Amino acid sequence: MSALFSSFRLKDVTLRNRIAVPPMCQYMAENGVPNDWHQTHYSSIARGGAGLVIVEATAVAPEGRITPHCTGLWNNEQFEAFKPIVKSIKKGGAVAGIQIAHAGRKASANRPWDGDQHIDQDAASGWETIAPSAVPFGANLPRTPTAMSKADIQRVQGDFVKSAERARDLGFEWLELHFAHGYLGQSFFSPLSNRRDDEYGGSFANRARFLVETVRAVRQVWPQNLPLTARFGVIEFDGNDEEQLKESVELTKLLKAEGLDFLSVSISFSTPEANIPWAPGFTASLAERIRSGADIPVASAWGLGEPEIAEKAVADKQMDIVMVGRAHLANPHWPYHAAKVLKVKDPSWVLPAPYAHWLERY
Ligand SMILES: Cc1cc2nc3c(=O)[nH]c(=O)nc-3n(C[C@H](O)[C@H](O)[C@H](O)COP(=O)(O)O)c2cc1C
Repeated sequence: MSALFSSFRLKDVTLRNRIAVPPMCQYMAENGVPNDWHQTHYSSIARGGAGLVIVEATAVAPEGRITPHCTGLWNNEQFEAFKPIVKSIKKGGAVAGIQIAHAGRKASANRPWDGDQHIDQDAASGWETIAPSAVPFGANLPRTPTAMSKADIQRVQGDFVKSAERARDLGFEWLELHFAHGYLGQSFFSPLSNRRDDEYGGSFANRARFLVETVRAVRQVWPQNLPLTARFGVIEFDGNDEEQLKESVELTKLLKAEGLDFLSVSISFSTPEANIPWAPGFTASLAERIRSGADIPVASAWGLGEPEIAEKAVADKQMDIVMVGRAHLANPHWPYHAAKVLKVKDPSWVLPAPYAHWLERY
């Protein structure tokens, strides 16, 4: 029996297998409102057989969008536009998840295919960015953010809560808080971006405070029977790896104590200087470390899109589910492909009947 194709239960949610599609920005929305592109994209991916489909980084406030074309969940128009998307993910047999996000100092950028850099300071399409401290990311994202006041912190935490309520009311069953990749949550925890000298900066407990409080506040409105999860960059690869991993385990324990059910283990991306050792499955050992250190179920991504690598990561108990991103863009029916490679006895169940009939019988 394949470990990857075994079901996974967390609280009242059961995934049909251990394959998840991680959030992947489409940069195709206007004013944060998703459209036909998103509908078709998520519907085909869900129909492709994954157990969980997590909708892309969706901003909790206008200034929290990475680009002007990111999705948002701060108003009713966006709420209404998400309804058919949630419905079609569920119709495809996947659990519908969403990542809610604030891009912090990395906001106000052009789309990757339009240059991937901060929008010019003077251009009307850009906006002022906010972050724990007035420290720019650098490289392609040189804009200096405004350091957040305590009122700003409370407002953004309130925005996370309001978006979580909207996600709940839409029928999403898996909520992921974006605390990774150098965006706002990550930048509070990283000393590379957080230079504050108040209770939100400095010591481990102070740098953790924004994330801990946000989880606590969101847990109040997110149903107890549904998974509340986060994506967090547990390592920067800037030379302080061991210290960061130890802190990441401790942070995960703190978040778990506030009601976090699951962690998606990722990379910090808080500086352009990091030296990341890209290789297939290179984050699996990091995931395992968080899983055993904090005693929490985890996932990871980054180069796990070869079926044997994904299978091994679950079979070896390095992670509970596997995030397969770009391989799903290339082939929304990746789970069928994986089932064939892994010689799963009856892969027809990961295909809709109009496809399975022809592919499995003839
Ligand atoms: C087009 C694209 C958009 C992405 N957008 C997001 C996002 O919205 N949120 C996020 O946490 N990660 C995002 N990522 C990272 C992916 O979730 C994933 O970690 C990455 O693609 C590595 O997994 P893979 O090797 O299976 O593709 C994005 C990646 C791609 C390729």
